[in-house]
Amino acid sequence: MTPDRVSSRTYFGQQATLDSLVVGSTPAPRAPRREAGLAPPPYLLHRGDALDAYGDWPVPAAIISDGAYGVRGFPGDTVGTEGLADWYLPHIEAWSRLSGPATTLWFWNTEVGWATVHPLLARHGWDYVQTITWDKGVRHIAGNVNGRTIRRFPVVSEVCVFYQRRFEVSGPDGPMDVQRWMRHEWLRSGLALNRANEACGVANAATRKYLTTDWLWYWPPGEMVERLAAYANAHGAKSGWPYYSLDGRAPVTAKGWDALRFKWRHTHGLTNVWRLAPLHGVERLKGTMRRAAPRVYNPGSLSAAHLNQKPLELMRRILHAATDEGDVIWEPFGGLASGAVAAVQARRFPCVAERDHDFAEIAAQRLADAVADRDCRDDPGTQGADEGMPGINELCDKHHYDGRLAKYRMTRRLCSGFVIGIFIKRAGTCKCQPKVVTQPARVAA
Ligand SMILES: C[S@@+](CC[C@H](N)C(=O)[O-])C[C@H]1O[C@@H](n2cnc3c(N)ncnc32)[C@H](O)[C@@H]1O
Repeated sequence: MTPDRVSSRTYFGQQATLDSLVVGSTPAPRAPRREAGLAPPPYLLHRGDALDAYGDWPVPAAIISDGAYGVRGFPGDTVGTEGLADWYLPHIEAWSRLSGPATTLWFWNTEVGWATVHPLLARHGWDYVQTITWDKGVRHIAGNVNGRTIRRFPVVSEVCVFYQRRFEVSGPDGPMDVQRWMRHEWLRSGLALNRANEACGVANAATRKYLTTDWLWYWPPGEMVERLAAYANAHGAKSGWPYYSLDGRAPVTAKGWDALRFKWRHTHGLTNVWRLAPLHGVERLKGTMRRAAPRVYNPGSLSAAHLNQKPLELMRRILHAATDEGDVIWEPFGGLASGAVAAVQARRFPCVAERDHDFAEIAAQRLADAVADRDCRDDPGTQGADEGMPGINELCDKHHYDGRLAKYRMTRRLCSGFVIGIFIKRAGTCKCQPKVVTQPARVAA
């Protein structure tokens, strides 16, 4: 199954086929709630290596990467930063090959982990935009710092580094970045530079902003590029036609041009430092009694199901800033699929992979819950779930998820049947109105 690799990034609203129930092909139409009972889930979950799934996923608007940190944080994480570049290489190659020109990348890691991988990303055409620091606050290290032995400031942060796809136009004169290309095409047309102002209907802003070679350059909006293109093709030397063409056949349109740039939605007051406590409360999944990572030795009922579970709020900020409803989001290192869960809740279309069987089962459950609006309430201190949403935790608070996981654990010991496990897990163990859902999550095998 080979999905279309087009630059269009909105998939809801398109006709879904039966194929879209499994990994690959065009995903489901917008159907976050499954009232009809037949609608395919608005996500793809691949239980296995992301490398085997990328080729079947639609072009992403955003990739949220939360993979190896070099801290033994999950089975398969590297022990230090030395192996990180090799670990990421095949993934970065795939992201680079399969992304669209407007795809953004959100790369979570430690400072040094990111610094180690950054050259690799840059080499593969990912341009740095900014670093977001997740400041978890002192609570993160409370009780864990020995002032007599520590030889540095205690670390309470992670970074999420925001990248955009490098925009290059390849033509007879070789690849060019967008600033050079804008001017190059105008000069190629043989027109005087100041006639660009006439083309755009401005006094001098076109030459000053769009055709300059210095740092005062601005990315021209589609409307202006379309005007420049129309003017150059109407008045420029016939021998060089077409000017401002991305395919060598026709000049670029305003719409086509705007689709090359990543989306951005500003939130007033939100900076690149995100202060948010790590998960300890209702949102944190616990109690699988399993060693979630090599560095966990005696897991108990209060131990985290996954050491790296990210707050949904952080994922929502990314989604809100750089994507729209219906956009495809990749979360190749799913863990408990926090990015994908937030994406389903925000009406995006996530494609998530998780290769660890147990994590993938929890991820599947969370996704199914998100689809059915049995939402996991956020931790206090993080922004709450959408108001009015009949979330599961509004019914029974903290113990529901924990209880279901405990029951699930027991069930898995008693019988290995996945479907039975899922069914009983769904039925829940808490005393307060468990919702019984008999329809297991439709996920790709
Ligand atoms: C840092 S954790 C992600 C945690 C996640 N952000 C969350 O909130 O739950 C990384 C996860 O990626 C998974 N993983 C590592 N390599 C993978 C691969 N090649 N394909 C799919 N999953 C992978 C690991 O099993 C681990 O659960």
